[in-house]
Amino acid sequence: MRKKIVFLTGAGMSVESGFKTFRGKYGLWADFPAEEVATKEAVEKQPDVVCQFFNQMRAMSWDAEPNEGHRLIAELEKDYDVTVITQNVDPLHEKAGSSHVIYLHGEVQKVTSSEDPNNPLYIQRLTRETSDTPPGARAADGSPLRPYLVFYGEPVPHYQEAVEAMKAADMLVIIGTSLIVTPARGLTRRVRKGTPIYIIDPSEVNTKRLGPHTQIYKGASEGMRELVERLKMLKTFTNE
Ligand code: OAD
Repeated sequence: MRKKIVFLTGAGMSVESGFKTFRGKYGLWADFPAEEVATKEAVEKQPDVVCQFFNQMRAMSWDAEPNEGHRLIAELEKDYDVTVITQNVDPLHEKAGSSHVIYLHGEVQKVTSSEDPNNPLYIQRLTRETSDTPPGARAADGSPLRPYLVFYGEPVPHYQEAVEAMKAADMLVIIGTSLIVTPARGLTRRVRKGTPIYIIDPSEVNTKRLGPHTQIYKGASEGMRELVERLKMLKTFTNE
């Protein structure tokens, strides 16, 4: 049986690909407060601002390239059963070749119905040519079109699938997330007792109630290179 490695990734995973993190002095929320662009109330109050914000984020997503960190995660599929649970809405894990990605916060390249956002009938992948959605655009059910993204206070799609992946994990690797936001933070507690946990992040993250773990204080690419080396050395973590 191949060992199961679960990666839980956040904004820091895509920093080397040109995306910003959310928190901190230079984070996205410093320029665009979350309550003004990432809530249902914001969509009702200022649909044009919300539309513009996500149109810009989507525009960036077409040309962004995965970094070495994304690629090394994908390459581990040669030897391990790899699941990526990401809070990121960019497509970089899949673009790097990861075949099992669970999107906790949606996907920026998709739009959906505002009445029934998780109904697969209404979820639509845009293309570079159709990337900009104007305010007032309608979904197939006639309701206002909205980004296929989780806004504050909304339930997270694929949560149960993520819980099952955590429970089955033989190793958990957390990369580039402050672990401030739930449910991602809560998910880390669903691994079995004794499961090795690694964090790759240059800064301290919220490890309250995380349990024993090892942090590699590096960026995603350098940290992943170190993790790959450690996996080669870990005699007890070979495939049976
Ligand atoms: P944060 O901005 O909270 O945290 C980003 C983390 O990335 C921090 O711990 C940084 O130290 C780390 N970091 C920075 N550069 C890095 C690099 N080169 N390599 C590795 N790590 C690096 O972002 P998230 O934890 O992802 O939700 O935020 C979680 C959620 O909060 C987002 O998905 C978003 C936001 O509100 C929604 O919009 C629903």
